[in-house]
Amino acid sequence: MAVTTRPQALSSKPPARGLNFGPGPALLPESVLVKAQEALWSFEDTGMGIAEISHRSPRFQELMERLQTGVRTLLKIPDTHEVLFIPAGATPHFDLVPVNLALGAGCPQAAYAITGHWSRLAYHEASRLIEATVATEVGAGSGRSSAERQIPDVAHWSVDRRVAYLYYPDNESIDGIEFPGPPEIPSTPLVSDMTANLFSRPVPVERFDLIFAGVQKNLGITGLGIVIVRKTCLHEAIPGWPPIFCYGRWAESRSMYNTPPTLNWYFALLMVEWMEAQGGVGALAVRNARKASLLYATIDQSGGFYRNAVAPACRSRMNVPFTLPTDTLTSRFLEEAARSGLLQLEGHRSTGGCRASIYNAMPESGVRALCEFMNGFMQRAG
Ligand SMILES: Cc1ncc(COP(=O)(O)O)c(C=O)c1O
Repeated sequence: MAVTTRPQALSSKPPARGLNFGPGPALLPESVLVKAQEALWSFEDTGMGIAEISHRSPRFQELMERLQTGVRTLLKIPDTHEVLFIPAGATPHFDLVPVNLALGAGCPQAAYAITGHWSRLAYHEASRLIEATVATEVGAGSGRSSAERQIPDVAHWSVDRRVAYLYYPDNESIDGIEFPGPPEIPSTPLVSDMTANLFSRPVPVERFDLIFAGVQKNLGITGLGIVIVRKTCLHEAIPGWPPIFCYGRWAESRSMYNTPPTLNWYFALLMVEWMEAQGGVGALAVRNARKASLLYATIDQSGGFYRNAVAPACRSRMNVPFTLPTDTLTSRFLEEAARSGLLQLEGHRSTGGCRASIYNAMPESGVRALCEFMNGFMQRAG
């Protein structure tokens, strides 16, 4: 074949990288970035870049099989469930879930547990389509003055027996609220948004009718969603709805309903291989718990200089929001942190304050560097 050699890199010294605490798009492991750079030039021995090869080619089909098998093994997904990759992140599933699992099943009722921004949005979307009720709700607000925020005990939730499913957000990435485990509501099918914590700890997949996640936290780059769905919930077509909105059609086409975002699939595979090399989801969970407890200890031992308003039992291990005493100090903190290479620590625009997202790819040394900076800043400012 005609062969071209790789052109000289534009810069022999690549620009420096900081530690990225952004909520997603999020930090990627260095080894993944290095492999992806290579593959963009030429994917393995194909002579073509990974963003250029046909999704119908045997090599890409092989990649897809590796991705499917890797995800299934990491999460111990039983044969009762299908894994789909659907473009456009997590938000489409705020609509696709009620369409497929409620309207598609002829049972237009569902209950929603609202513990933050994303589940509130999901509930409002569902309310346009079906009869959605609130099973429980954690009040809005994460500022310094708000009382401790806590997920109400499941015994006090209101879930009608006739609902098609109970929806809950496993981890609210803006509010920093995470369920310690799935809520125990007997004989009610569960649906969960796990965008911000899938692959961060083991999940009892068999208990869910459906789990969805945008992949930009722990499974690669933004623009793709993963759906793990019980096969019995898949329908051929949903009356009145275009087939592209039908999970059954995505399953039938093996997630190739149209040309898939091939580069995102490749990044997802690289992340799967990276997680395997880390020892799998169980090992990552141990590391994630350690990282989160370091950061929460720094906040809790600051004498109120840093504050996190979430009750310890449901504090997120992935997204840690915190406030400082004044807006002026917050701005100074963010500026000095950025100058020290600690990046994207701003809180969500709806809450203000700060937030450190510490997904799988954030090393423990990165969290230690942040804690050290926080302690130093407090001393300088105090
Ligand atoms: C928990 C959660 N759900 C849903 C979303 C929305 O994801 P997307 O932007 O991929 O639609 C996000 C985004 O950060 C999220 O963190």
